[in-house]
Amino acid sequence: MCVPAFSTSSGAIYCGDNVAVLRRCIPHRSVDLIYADPPFNSGHAYYATGKRCEGPRFHDVWHWDNVAYRRALAESPTALAAALEALRGILGESGALAYCAALAVCLGELRRVLKDTGSLYLHCDVRMSHYLRLMLDALFGRERCRNEIVWAYRTGGAGKRHFARKHDVILFYTASDEYTFHPQRERVRYRKRFFGAQRDAHGYYADVLLRDVWEIPAVLNLSSERTGYPTQKPLALLERIIAASSNVGDVVLDPYCGSGTALVAAQKLGRRWIGVDASADAVRVAQARLSEAQIER
Ligand SMILES: C[S@@+](CC[C@H](N)C(=O)[O-])C[C@H]1O[C@@H](n2cnc3c(N)ncnc32)[C@H](O)[C@@H]1O
Repeated sequence: MCVPAFSTSSGAIYCGDNVAVLRRCIPHRSVDLIYADPPFNSGHAYYATGKRCEGPRFHDVWHWDNVAYRRALAESPTALAAALEALRGILGESGALAYCAALAVCLGELRRVLKDTGSLYLHCDVRMSHYLRLMLDALFGRERCRNEIVWAYRTGGAGKRHFARKHDVILFYTASDEYTFHPQRERVRYRKRFFGAQRDAHGYYADVLLRDVWEIPAVLNLSSERTGYPTQKPLALLERIIAASSNVGDVVLDPYCGSGTALVAAQKLGRRWIGVDASADAVRVAQARLSEAQIER
């Protein structure tokens, strides 16, 4: 049975393991845009610390599991299984390889539900991004990697034996060479006047095409959009991705939706949305945010 935990005329959220939900509920080639923000293999357990939710939420600790690895090899498309085997040579039979295998099964399902004109953005960080990129090259084709986006932010805490690690990586792939892309712009300010610059009350500026390095503030303790759900991403980040890679009325899928940031951004921009999360608390927070976003519209 395929019953969402929450639904409106614009979308639905399912509570459960995303691979099981995708297999049961989401038809082949039915989704225009996927934003996936899985656990990063950080080795941490995450706790919620907000008024909307409090307590343990999800574990991001991985252990070697031979049975699950064999199943992932059997269920993955040939090229992806070959990439996993290549990674076994590098990572050994480790928690990191168990993480790659779990993601391989999910990515295979995501490729199945993605339309041939669709795009996938996979959010990760420098711990695993190079391995995941290899897997996505195997699944989509190396030439279908459109960008490796760097999301740079400033948060507290920095090591003294290396530069402060303050960016995430977002891998952007398309299913084919025919895909939706609306170039985005960012405002750059200049101290002096130059050809083509405009002027407003703050000085000279130009709205230039956006690079693949994005400076967007992280959701911090005092941010107005903060729900307290751990690893919540900023709405501005998701709005940018959705505005660039989908059209009004398109279907946006977030298979690790957490507090529902991608779904709220999709709703605000007039897209339809599908969210999946294994945590009932995540679904509750996402539902509350979506209900608020609907009232604001
Ligand atoms: C990094 S968080 C997502 C945060 C989200 N982007 C936001 O802005 O709030 C990862 C989420 O994936 C969920 N998750 C982990 N494994 C899952 C699985 N197999 N199926 C569904 N959800 C899963 C966790 O419960 C967690 O909420």
